[in-house]
Amino acid sequence: MAASSQLCSKLSPMNAEHLSQLRRLDAAHLLHPFTDHTDMHRAGTHVMETGSGCTVTDETGRPLLDALAGLWCVNVGYGRREIADAVHRQMLGLCYYPSFFNTTTEPTILLADKIAAHAPAGLTKVFFSNSGSEANETALKLIRAYNKLRGRHAKTKILTRTFAYHGVTIATTSMTGLPGCVDPFDLPLPGFLQVPGPHPYGTGSSMSADEYGNWCLQETERVIDTEGADTIAALFAEPVQGAGGVIAPPPGHLRQLRELCRRHDILFVADEVITGFGRLGDWFASSLWDLKPDMITMAKGITSGYAPLGATMPSDTIAEVLSGAGYLAHGFTYSGHPLSTAAGLANLGILENERLIERVRDDIGPYFQNKLHALATHPATGEIRGEALIGAIDLLPKGGRAALKTPPVLGATAAALARSEGVIVRGIRDLIAVAPPLVITREEVDFLFAAIARVMDRIAEV
Ligand SMILES: Cc1ncc(COP(=O)(O)O)c(C=O)c1O
Repeated sequence: MAASSQLCSKLSPMNAEHLSQLRRLDAAHLLHPFTDHTDMHRAGTHVMETGSGCTVTDETGRPLLDALAGLWCVNVGYGRREIADAVHRQMLGLCYYPSFFNTTTEPTILLADKIAAHAPAGLTKVFFSNSGSEANETALKLIRAYNKLRGRHAKTKILTRTFAYHGVTIATTSMTGLPGCVDPFDLPLPGFLQVPGPHPYGTGSSMSADEYGNWCLQETERVIDTEGADTIAALFAEPVQGAGGVIAPPPGHLRQLRELCRRHDILFVADEVITGFGRLGDWFASSLWDLKPDMITMAKGITSGYAPLGATMPSDTIAEVLSGAGYLAHGFTYSGHPLSTAAGLANLGILENERLIERVRDDIGPYFQNKLHALATHPATGEIRGEALIGAIDLLPKGGRAALKTPPVLGATAAALARSEGVIVRGIRDLIAVAPPLVITREEVDFLFAAIARVMDRIAEV
């Protein structure tokens, strides 16, 4: 990537007095998502300042290799002038106009067209929202309306998988298969059911990945039979389950799950909020694995995080029924916000022009997986999982699996150690997850895994 396309360079450290003032104000007024506030304010929050390529700079002026791409989203890397310029031009021209009723704006039309051009066959319509949660919430409503229009009033239940993460609204929390996200809110709502996700390591099963995958399919069919397929509207699946611990399905598993849904007239929704826009070396996992979904939801990489944007693509069959039925009473004030769609258009332009997705498929994805799997024999490795430019290492302490603690601590410990090594990884339960920007270089991949290996040396002593 040309240095001239970067907006940001390393800043000098933030003045100590200014930083402590910011931390005071943060503690006084800002509630952070997914945070233990007591823990955080004991150490003081981090105030990230600049970003360029795969590197962000913290309040001390220290560069950190961001191996999580923000939150699995900054696919084209930080500091892209093309995106900033596009948003700036749009803001000066027309800062906002809704897509409600009979109006819209140019970047919103053009982005819908571009996404449709890259989506799997049979999905050509885009409904914009502002986040992955809203994209899934929209999918749920479109599915309810579709089934109602077809006279299938009983088809309302939703299946998702254990370890799934689909968002934080009341309904999408109900779809999430992580008890820590669901239990505090007295959810799920009735009608949201869980089937097993393909994660034998996570459940302590001794089955192989294929055996466990087959068992998941059998269990899913058993739940469908028990509940009655005529009561089940849809199954939502992340092609690679991200926040649940980077759970990549065994080869062919998702195709079989998709076919199972088809056999029972259950819609198959691919939640591609993480896997969309290049992370697996294709525009969508649905294309890579030929899933032919009835609906795709997306967010994150659609703008590489430069502006909030989510989108739901119903199949043309569903879209035809919905748009033939008159007024569609759904949408957000900021559905298709022109600043976000301008950012999205510029972002997709970069993915295309720099052939970043082909690069993930042919070069940096395989390189990254080789380095990740080279840690398989490390004493702190419990299991390694990954696909193209996403991966996870389930960690073990000195005493092995039997010595793992409840609640789990190794993920957070390892993420803190990684930070001191100059890299940002995500700690989840007893694992670390990595999903860097698509522009990561081989040298940066080397740096990342050398740092992770040092962290694992320390974990192996715990
Ligand atoms: C697969 C998946 N779906 C949905 C969401 C929710 O997206 P958001 O946080 O933008 O609402 C996420 C967020 O991480 C996700 O990973």
